[in-house]
Amino acid sequence: MTEPVLKVDDLRKEFGGLVAVKDVSFTVGEGEFVGLIGPNGCGKSTTFNCISGLLDQTSGRIEMFGNDISELRPDQIQNLGMTRTFQHTNLWRQMTVIENLMVPPRKQFGSSFTELMRSLLIPSNPAEEERLSKAYDVLDQLEVPHMAHNLTSELSGGQSKLVDIGRSMMGDPKLLLLDEPVAGVAGPLAMKIFNNLRNIVDETGISVLIIEHNMDFILRQGVDRIVVMNEGEVLMQGTPDEVRANKEVIEAYLGAAGTPTEGEE
Ligand SMILES: Nc1ncnc2c1ncn2[C@@H]1O[C@H](COP(=O)(O)OP(=O)(O)O)[C@@H](O)[C@H]1O
Ligand SMILES: [Mg+2]
Repeated sequence: MTEPVLKVDDLRKEFGGLVAVKDVSFTVGEGEFVGLIGPNGCGKSTTFNCISGLLDQTSGRIEMFGNDISELRPDQIQNLGMTRTFQHTNLWRQMTVIENLMVPPRKQFGSSFTELMRSLLIPSNPAEEERLSKAYDVLDQLEVPHMAHNLTSELSGGQSKLVDIGRSMMGDPKLLLLDEPVAGVAGPLAMKIFNNLRNIVDETGISVLIIEHNMDFILRQGVDRIVVMNEGEVLMQGTPDEVRANKEVIEAYLGAAGTPTEGEE
């Protein structure tokens, strides 16, 4: 059997006395679309922060393709093919969509304003043209090529999330971690985003781990598997059908997490 793209083993993160992530274990296979769900505050983003190297875990081990990445820095992890988005989108608002895609993601890459300017001032060269053509391909994959020359300040919340996802796809990642990419996005666009991601996974074979707090919603979005978290722990993992059939999960969540996503788009 091939090694999973991502293997999280007994991951634990404490903030002072608070145990935000309690010995969490799960895997993401190659070409798998996995949802990480659970109510607000249950430790989903903290799990992402540990996996992507932004936070040092208290204990536990994280592997990519069988290699220990537990002690690596975010940029080293990114070089191995993992990219992530953040819960709060941070686009360059005075730049167009295509220009945003040309800039390496902030925070994870640590790109400063100076680095940004330098990258924009480099005279056009083959690598730059390749990147531009990649950016157009990504917009095609997300089915929004018409947005290429829009200023991001003119986009809706949902469209901004799409650009953010597009940016995370620019480096041809093997694994994408998306933190609540459809929170606050209106229903139809949120479904379209999931649908696009499903197609991208099927067509390119990359793996996607996506955080979503609305269980009712994710059960219908075509993910392969769902990891359900509650109060820092993994409550269960399984296919959407298995999650739907799990009485404990339904009792604990469907009531609370089944509320509609916030209305804004
Ligand atoms: N940097 C931090 N310092 C202290 N506490 C934190 C920090 N980040 C998250 N927490 C706490 O850890 C818990 C889990 O948070 P988080 O992972 O953001 O949850 P989720 O993403 O599932 O909503 C929460 O109680 C939150 O307040
Ligand atoms: Mg979160």
